[in-house]
Amino acid sequence: MNILITGGAGFIGSNLSLRLLEKGYQVTVLDNLLPQVHGENPEEESPLFQNILGKVNFIKGDVTKKSDWLKAIKQQDSIIHLAALTGTGQSMYQIDKYTDVNVSGTAKMLDVLVNENHQIKKVILASSRAVYGEGKYFHKDLGIVYPKSRNLENMEKGEFEIKNESGKTLKPLPTDESSLLQPISVYGITKQIQEQLVMSVCSSVNIDAIALRFQNVYGAGQSLQNPYTGILSIFSSQILNDENLNIFEDGEESRDFIYIDDAVEAIILSLENTDVKNKVFNIGTGVSTTVLELAKTLKKYYNKDIEINISGQFRIGDIRHNFADISLAQEKLSFFPKVSFEEGIRKFTTWVLKQNMGKIKYNQSLHEMIEKGLLK
Ligand SMILES: NC(=O)c1ccc[n+]([C@@H]2O[C@H](COP(=O)([O-])OP(=O)(O)OC[C@H]3O[C@@H](n4cnc5c(N)ncnc54)[C@H](O)[C@@H]3O)[C@@H](O)[C@H]2O)c1
Repeated sequence: MNILITGGAGFIGSNLSLRLLEKGYQVTVLDNLLPQVHGENPEEESPLFQNILGKVNFIKGDVTKKSDWLKAIKQQDSIIHLAALTGTGQSMYQIDKYTDVNVSGTAKMLDVLVNENHQIKKVILASSRAVYGEGKYFHKDLGIVYPKSRNLENMEKGEFEIKNESGKTLKPLPTDESSLLQPISVYGITKQIQEQLVMSVCSSVNIDAIALRFQNVYGAGQSLQNPYTGILSIFSSQILNDENLNIFEDGEESRDFIYIDDAVEAIILSLENTDVKNKVFNIGTGVSTTVLELAKTLKKYYNKDIEINISGQFRIGDIRHNFADISLAQEKLSFFPKVSFEEGIRKFTTWVLKQNMGKIKYNQSLHEMIEKGLLK
């Protein structure tokens, strides 16, 4: 089977490429080697790109260019569409860029699939939990609630938990696939549109489509230079450079962290399953971890005597909590994540310590957000 992976030089894509090669697939990667992810000289600076160089059929190209799609799509059986701009915060001030790459790039792919000759039978799209916005909540008097984005005034007073309009504090529940879609970041909006485009167009031309709504994927091999995404890389860079950590909000905001090997496995299960068609799945662990817990665990594994400060600052576009209900993926894809948070962090930190971890230009990303009024 010939598999085309867009964004195949990135974190998920490069790990997936290597795993598919191991399994005997022919892998073609279409990737523009974005400097924000790979540095200015990817051949020298990007371990992600170096890992796949010479192993996959690599096409340097852009998903927003139809001509690059036409080159890449020849003789392919399936497409795994991962190429995207991925920074939630950054998406709030680079709206045109994010919609161009994420939405128009996907539209270009679909245009080629509908109008050109090809043998593609399946498309797998990397979507995101960002499509849910704040996700699913519960209150004993109100039942299930899908809250809108948080009130700025409350957050400025340091009240970060999710409340309904009449001020009742709500309790987060695992978000299932039928939960309301109401993204609160431009990134989340682009992911929702990508998903809807893929699911609707592919089924109209009889191509099987699967969208995977990933939670926070982390692990060995993630970009250690992108200051716009990857909280683990940012914290690691600060800890290893003996800087204290400043945690947003009150540190109790939480995420569902899924190890890269489990995320790759979910894609392979989706690729190899011939019964599941035109479905959307949550891919996470179902376990919620606070950002404070993450910071403490990283500090423990790096064994560094730095301080963890709660800054009370917050970013517009960030959600409070989200963790996945993965029962559908368990039932239909037999997806059972294997790596626990503690084991994943141990693997990640062991890997980081062997890398040339420089200083991530994180302050630059914060200044950009402050300048745009998006970091309070
Ligand atoms: N990593 C996560 O936690 C996570 C969570 C939810 C969803 N996702 C989704 O998974 C996918 C992969 O994420 P990742 O973490 O590997 O990101 P990444 O930034 O490491 O990889 C993205 C790759 O896409 C390439 N790319 C960017 N713009 C492109 C363009 N115009 N044309 C061609 N290539 C382009 C980049 O060079 C990079 O190699 C994305 O669609 C992302 O939205 C990731």
